[in-house]
Amino acid sequence: MERENWTSKLGFILAASGSAIGLGNIWRFPYLTGTNGGAAFLFIYLACIIFIGYPVLIAEMSLGKKTAKNPIGAFKQLAPDTPWWLVGALGVLAGFVILSFYSVVAGWGMAYTVKAIGGFSPDADFAAMFGNHISGVGGPLFWHAAFMFLTIAVIGAGVVKGIQKVVKILMPILFFIIIIMIVRALTLDGAMAGLSFYLKPDFSNIKLQTFIDAISQSFFTLSLGLGTMITYGSYLSKNDSISDSAGYVVIFDTAIAFLAGFAIFPAVFALGFDPAAGPGLTFITLPAVFAEMPLGGLFSFLFFILLTIAALTSSISMLEVVVAYLVDEHHWNRKKASYLFGFLIFLFGIPPLLGYSSLSEIRFLGMDILDTYDWFSNSLFLPIGGLLTSVFVAHIWGAKNAVNEANDNSDILKVGQIFVFLLKYIVPLAISIIIILNIVSSF
Ligand code: PFF
Repeated sequence: MERENWTSKLGFILAASGSAIGLGNIWRFPYLTGTNGGAAFLFIYLACIIFIGYPVLIAEMSLGKKTAKNPIGAFKQLAPDTPWWLVGALGVLAGFVILSFYSVVAGWGMAYTVKAIGGFSPDADFAAMFGNHISGVGGPLFWHAAFMFLTIAVIGAGVVKGIQKVVKILMPILFFIIIIMIVRALTLDGAMAGLSFYLKPDFSNIKLQTFIDAISQSFFTLSLGLGTMITYGSYLSKNDSISDSAGYVVIFDTAIAFLAGFAIFPAVFALGFDPAAGPGLTFITLPAVFAEMPLGGLFSFLFFILLTIAALTSSISMLEVVVAYLVDEHHWNRKKASYLFGFLIFLFGIPPLLGYSSLSEIRFLGMDILDTYDWFSNSLFLPIGGLLTSVFVAHIWGAKNAVNEANDNSDILKVGQIFVFLLKYIVPLAISIIIILNIVSSF
């Protein structure tokens, strides 16, 4: 069968931005900013995005466009008869693992969308409500299944008729909702305190953990290290360009994370809540914030729809990595690959889901099962994948080849010596340090 191509440049940019913009922007970025002291974190994060994330993004897209293959096939084609294909295999495995728990969290978001329709009472105990929800079995299982089903249906439909069609509809809606949320948050009395926390840096809050968080977040948010951008790049036609498209993806992704902060912190401060609540910020603090504000029911509904849309346009890109591998290398039918592997991923998500109820005894380094999956993927698989990909592109395939591939047909933004330098030295060095620190600090 003919391999598909995106039918327009916009289709590719929206699909790659859709992959990048996800729970990482709406859920993870705000709580990391909150726990790392606000504005100071923003600076470090921005530096990581520009000097580490952007070069790796270009490297991955170039590998994909050059080979028109899934991650395993791409490494095999450029370095035949070497073990480099294992980097691609690590990516396919990481896609499998991350999607399994990502879907559980996205399922919580879907459940909260429905809860929001009924409205949240200001007197409710939101921590207990969240605890009750995640420690249930039937509810979270139903929503995890529903979310996986949506993901499978999109990927089963194909690259153009599935992914591209869905992102063209959902990404503008996502953008629209976030603007409404910001206007609402900024017009609350007391919003300014939140803005100053968010925008005035207090560098005394910076710890080693801040750097670790910033680098791993820059990987997670740009969907790097597991071959997603290799896979999406592989559907580019030879007349498409990379360096400028990658620039748009970075700008959109960063803008949405910033905007999510604008929608959240002014509201959190205006209503007297703690910005450093951690992962519960989205599911505990925000419903409480919404319950206090005029028209809160409507805004909480919009917020959780936003979260679900963002999660869906990312989850499809993870399943696509796995499916592209089965279709390209083993000539599976796309629908069969999507449904069978989507189902296996659903099953693999059940242990982290039960980690808040029947399996709550199971701990790894003090973490529950979901955090354990998260730790393995975000602290190990993604950075190791990113490190090896950058070493491969810079030193094995050759940075010059990547530059040529990236700049081909691109007239707005071109990459050059700085990109080569970053990819050859800075990226591998920074990621290696982070991987080591991360492991040492966890044990
Ligand atoms: N970039 C996504 C987010 O910010 O939520 C997460 C993600 C998607 C990570 C796809 C990795 C990936 F391959």
